Amino acid sequence: MRPPPALAALCLLALPAAAAAAYFGLTGREVLTPFPGPGTAAASAQSGAHLRQCDLLQLSRRQKQLCRREPGLAETLQDAAHLSLLECQFQFRHERWNCSLEGRTGLLKRGFKETAFLYAVSSAALAHTLARACSAGRLERCTCDDSPGLQSPQAWQWGVCGDNLKYSTKFLSQFLGPKRGSKDLRARADAHNTHVGIKAVKSGVRTTCKCHGVSGSCAVRTCWKQLSPFRETGQALKLRYEAAVKVSSATNEALGRLELWAPARPGSPAKELAPRPGDLVYMEDSPSFCRPSKYSPGTAGRACSREASCSSLCCGRGYDTQSRLVAFSCHCRVQWCCYVECQQCVQEETLYTCKH
Ligand SMILES: *[C@@H]1O[C@H](CO)[C@@H](O)[C@H](O)[C@H]1NC(C)=O
Repeated sequence: MRPPPALAALCLLALPAAAAAAYFGLTGREVLTPFPGPGTAAASAQSGAHLRQCDLLQLSRRQKQLCRREPGLAETLQDAAHLSLLECQFQFRHERWNCSLEGRTGLLKRGFKETAFLYAVSSAALAHTLARACSAGRLERCTCDDSPGLQSPQAWQWGVCGDNLKYSTKFLSQFLGPKRGSKDLRARADAHNTHVGIKAVKSGVRTTCKCHGVSGSCAVRTCWKQLSPFRETGQALKLRYEAAVKVSSATNEALGRLELWAPARPGSPAKELAPRPGDLVYMEDSPSFCRPSKYSPGTAGRACSREASCSSLCCGRGYDTQSRLVAFSCHCRVQWCCYVECQQCVQEETLYTCKH
């Protein structure tokens, strides 16, 4: 089954990850590197290269057009895919499902909590990356965020170029297509979760100001908008994942379309409620992810902590213990003024991995 066209972009972010892994050579231990990556400017300077990059991405026809029209976009889409993958793998590094690329295709076709997280983290990464690319001047059609919005404009002014989320969200709604009305439950849920991701980025925006004037008089303030680090957005979404709401569908008679319904929260008078805009929603209970399946490679071979995670991560199969020597710097001393001299020490480390 093909994903609905409007969401193909997200599947792009989630799916070609298979290709991305090969491309980026991920080990799962990468730190979250903020872009721009090396070579970004050089690559997008050649428009021919840019068009080729658009062709390489899995995009709908309309999205491909948007991509070709905007130099710098293909690069940004790839950055977003990379960012969402790294963040997903970081947030799930201690879980049975570790956001492995194996089984990604299977997961995206279902309605698990993990599917919900994938949609949300992908759209969040896209919103974040677009806003950053915009303020870094890597997208031609995007202008600086000079949005008014604070009171008493005479006391301060918008400074430099903030992270332009306004441009980003406007572009995203264009890129992801119009909201589809009464499609099936899954399409509604995917669209909802996509929106949760964008919302998470929006709610992380902070206004930062700097004072100018004679010795801290703050006669003039320069302010700009700043996105929170993506790690914080990932953390927020992980919490949403843990509190995800199971939904079913009901046809809204008055509107004649399908709506999402969740069982009422305790203490609420109604029997069923629409999920809140910030809730991640899912329809199906997840598999255990213990054994290899179409959704994950299972947990055999996963490193775990004997005190904390081995028993749950290994699903009761037990773990192997392995010792190894690791070298590290020690007995460091400052020499003269400006450099530090260290010795190499060796320490034994014990590694625990889940049995097959
Ligand atoms: C996830 O778990 C699988 C299966 O144990 C392992 O092969 C893979 O390296 C892990 N991926 C990450 C990113 O930790």
